[in-house]
Amino acid sequence: MDIELPKLIAHRAGAGLAPENTLNALVSAKQNGALWVEFDVMQTLDDVPIIFHDETLARIAKVPGKVADKTFAELSALDADIPTLEQYIQKAAELKLGINIELKAPKSKASLLVKQVLSVLTQYWNKTLPTPLISSFPVPNLIALNEANCPYPIGLNVNEWSPECVMLAKKLGCYSIHVNQQYITPSCIKLNNENNLKTLAYTINDTATAQKLFEMGVTAVFSDFPNLLKGINLK
Ligand code: G3P
Ligand code: MG
Repeated sequence: MDIELPKLIAHRAGAGLAPENTLNALVSAKQNGALWVEFDVMQTLDDVPIIFHDETLARIAKVPGKVADKTFAELSALDADIPTLEQYIQKAAELKLGINIELKAPKSKASLLVKQVLSVLTQYWNKTLPTPLISSFPVPNLIALNEANCPYPIGLNVNEWSPECVMLAKKLGCYSIHVNQQYITPSCIKLNNENNLKTLAYTINDTATAQKLFEMGVTAVFSDFPNLLKGINLK
């Protein structure tokens, strides 16, 4: 399966220009030229899939506690603009943005989250929109995608790249590996390419690093700044 990825994917829908993972960030990403956005999905205590990155509420909502211990009603009462997955997919579709959905479920909820994500996509993701890319760090989420016969390409997220990651990504039928940019080397890209895996790099907020990574053979970079490559002559 091949998809057309742009050079830049707005990380957390463009966390550098708007509050991360919010509906406003989607609008801002679009206004600032993003073609694709990445965002994180996890479940509340009562299993509502929401768009949120951290395990805890401290950084974003300035209150103590874990997201997984709160109901959707409790989270909605906070001053944090936390959208549901359904709202997010609908808005991204309306804005015609490509999407990379990053699954952040624990093992016990992986199958349910996959079911929820695939169901929302079936409901709202029009076939004329770019094919979504679904990724995750925890392997159980990727296994659950395979078990659900996910019709979309999948990506393995890793921090440090190693040859073992390539073997794992192949075993999981991945389309891409998403690597912390500081661990990307020419030999990493070579082995990924030899195994027909695209290399995506996170999180790049300066053009010189982006340029260097593209020269090395990286397919796309995740950036907090949707407009990072505006006016840049890419080699
Ligand atoms: O998917 C790329 C990147 O978002 C992975 O790291 O922690 O920002 O979700 P994180
Ligand atoms: Mg993410």
